Amino acid sequence: MNRATFSGRNDDPDILQVLEAIPDAVVVIDTDFTVRLVNAGFTALTGVPRTQAIGKKCYEVFSGDMCRTSACPMNRIDKGVEQLRYEGDKHCACGRSAPGIITASAYRTPSGELSGVIEIVSDMTPLYESRERFRKAMGGVIQAMSLTIEKRDPYTAGHQRRVTKLCRAIAGELGFSWDRTQGLRMAAAIHDLGKVLVPAAILNKTGELSEQEMAIIREHPRTAYEILKNIDFPWPLAQTIYQHHERMDGSGYPQGLKGEAILLEARILAVADVVDAICCFRPYRPAAGPEAALAELSALRETCYDAAVVDACTKVLTEGKVNLGACRNKNPIG
Ligand SMILES: [Fe+2]
Repeated sequence: MNRATFSGRNDDPDILQVLEAIPDAVVVIDTDFTVRLVNAGFTALTGVPRTQAIGKKCYEVFSGDMCRTSACPMNRIDKGVEQLRYEGDKHCACGRSAPGIITASAYRTPSGELSGVIEIVSDMTPLYESRERFRKAMGGVIQAMSLTIEKRDPYTAGHQRRVTKLCRAIAGELGFSWDRTQGLRMAAAIHDLGKVLVPAAILNKTGELSEQEMAIIREHPRTAYEILKNIDFPWPLAQTIYQHHERMDGSGYPQGLKGEAILLEARILAVADVVDAICCFRPYRPAAGPEAALAELSALRETCYDAAVVDACTKVLTEGKVNLGACRNKNPIG
């Protein structure tokens, strides 16, 4: 196919004036991938001076994740797409890599023939950095809450951390995305938050609990829900914790939910929670160990626990994909 090349002059003062007024990086690329024009925003982002960029191939000075693939914007525009907008990392010849929002538009001659592509790259580095700071701060707050619960109730020390670890492994086995796994990890890290309203005398009691004491303990998922429900997390944290003692057959508490009415996150948390509770405590004997936990899961698979979650948990434990580590606590609540 006979194609036109970019017809604008590289030193056209009108074009340059327009380009320099744009704070984003602008690069005009010919159909043969030759860079024809760049603006000061391009140099600011890439560190590559205009004189070193013009005339080079775009993938030599400013490559992206799609370079040399069928997803390359030039290839897609060549196939008739008029404009593309996507998020991606841009790698500069200077070694710097920048996350950006990229808009690639067809550049045509007055007669409509494809002449090349105009790429505008908005540098998202500051946004990504502040998002990362926010994410770390949120993780820190969750961690602080977790430690607060464990300080007040030493019997749960380590329990939430081990449950978090197991939840992450099960989520990996079930194909959870990184983001969804983050939400589950945070819920697991504070799943016993509601114990803050359970009197210490009950938490620390070594003998058998009365009906009334058990009723108080059974309120802890609801208490956590009340504390968390108005925080606008990007994950269903409050609901996951609210439901972590629900069972598939409706025999759980506090709402008596059944089957798929229970969030998958909560079904995973329920399994991880009970495994750690069995591994670490029996009122009449010391820690029962992972074999006893797996036997319990197998016995209650489908009645109490989600079958797919039980299978995933069994797999990660038997294949040694997760090591719960030392377990010394004697948590009677789970
Ligand atoms: Fe619990």
